[in-house]
Amino acid sequence: MTPVCKVSELTPGSMKTVNVSGKRIAVANIDGQYFAIDDACSHVGCSLGSEGFLDGTTVTCGCHGAQFDITNGKVLALPAVSDVSSYEVTVEGDMVSVAV
Ligand code: FES
Repeated sequence: MTPVCKVSELTPGSMKTVNVSGKRIAVANIDGQYFAIDDACSHVGCSLGSEGFLDGTTVTCGCHGAQFDITNGKVLALPAVSDVSSYEVTVEGDMVSVAV
């Protein structure tokens, strides 16, 4: 588990990009539940955590509109056709950590 940010930096309904061992990960807080997926959209690699939009558990890529389920990385809408990886997230005290 790698600490990535404080709980206060990730308010409910928000999402951000973090770096874990040189890998970009998008971390989200959905009503107090935390999820992490690859930050790079599987279409052509735009940042989901920084340029994407979160609506419920659906992330929409800001570049061309592909959608992913933040809870498991499954692709939901074109133009992306491949899932992205999802990662385990834990919260201890005020720190959010991701296992990559
Ligand atoms: S890079 Fe995400 S939809 Fe094109």
